[in-house]
Amino acid sequence: MPTLFDPITYGAIAAPNRFVMAPLTRGRATAEHVPTPLMIEYYRQRSSAGLIVTEGTGISREGLGWPNAPGLWSDEQVEAWKPVVAAVHEAGGRIVPQLWHLGRLARKDVTGDAPFSSSATTAPARPGAEENVNVEARAMTLDDIARTLDDYSLAARNAVRAGFDGVALHAANGYLIDQFMRDGTNFRDDDYGGSVDNRLRLLREVMERLVAEVGADRVGVRFSPNGEVQGCDDSNPEAVFVPAAAHLQSLGIAFLELRESGPDDTFTRTDVPKLSPKIRAVFTNPLILNQDYDPAKAQADLDSGVADAISFGRPFLANPDLVERVRKGASLNAPDKRTFYTPGPEGYTDYPTLAG
Ligand SMILES: Cc1cc2nc3c(=O)[nH]c(=O)nc-3n(C[C@H](O)[C@H](O)[C@H](O)COP(=O)(O)O)c2cc1C
Repeated sequence: MPTLFDPITYGAIAAPNRFVMAPLTRGRATAEHVPTPLMIEYYRQRSSAGLIVTEGTGISREGLGWPNAPGLWSDEQVEAWKPVVAAVHEAGGRIVPQLWHLGRLARKDVTGDAPFSSSATTAPARPGAEENVNVEARAMTLDDIARTLDDYSLAARNAVRAGFDGVALHAANGYLIDQFMRDGTNFRDDDYGGSVDNRLRLLREVMERLVAEVGADRVGVRFSPNGEVQGCDDSNPEAVFVPAAAHLQSLGIAFLELRESGPDDTFTRTDVPKLSPKIRAVFTNPLILNQDYDPAKAQADLDSGVADAISFGRPFLANPDLVERVRKGASLNAPDKRTFYTPGPEGYTDYPTLAG
């Protein structure tokens, strides 16, 4: 069985180890959603990861309701991403942007417009928040869907122009694609709602666009199949996510990443069993697992064959040299929650490496 330090090939992307940097929104882009020079340094520092999946990156202004998150719809954004990608490549790394549409979670105070979703629903407040910044979404029209598909195409094209190694589709965590897939948020009675096949239609159509732009062997996807997240849930996740994964396998995509919760996790928690064993049975291309992994647990899941690689979120956030630290059995810096989304270098580019 491979170790975390063995190489792996994600479609057309050859990685020297099986550590993946999980997507992490950090809010260090401009208010206009343009990447900043600080982001060059942040990603460069983490380029010893086998693969970096960037923070959620908006495909359109209307879909990116998160303050100071970067986008990939304008020439200015493409130009600002180029030095980020170049810095990672020069340092020997690989990087793909996580393409993000927030659907009903797109904040009106950021986009200026009411959000849209599969159906007219309102996302709940973030845990611990005093007020709910989410307003009621309107149900997408077929024109909205057509425009959104075009936005995915443009963002994927722009990813290629910026020099990225591929793209990763954010279909997890209760955002737009998830809102369509699950019966707790999709109440449509047209071709995009009702049966599982219909609820997976948007995913299939987005994938068609991404594959057309960058090739299946450079497209990855992220799901969060088990349990509720940001008010998004399904009465039978297995019935949705196993066929979804089988479809992605039939396309021959580069990788599938699953963020799965356990009952005692520190990010999100659920008693709903993990679906990774059932997804593994239908998805034979590289399967990346995430959430609350430490090196021993990560190696155990490689050993059992349920995962081919492991993505680390908070450990990479706080340890730019995570790979080296694990190789040496060194201790890890603890992440500082206070600076997860704050502007500036503090808690962003100033976590110490072993070298100092
Ligand atoms: C600060 C922060 C930002 C995050 N941003 C994203 C994001 O943009 N996209 C996404 O899919 N998940 C996001 N996540 C979830 C992480 O990718 C990951 O699933 C989570 O941290 C659990 O993995 P870990 O235990 O290795 O940290 C974020 C998590 C944190 C802590």
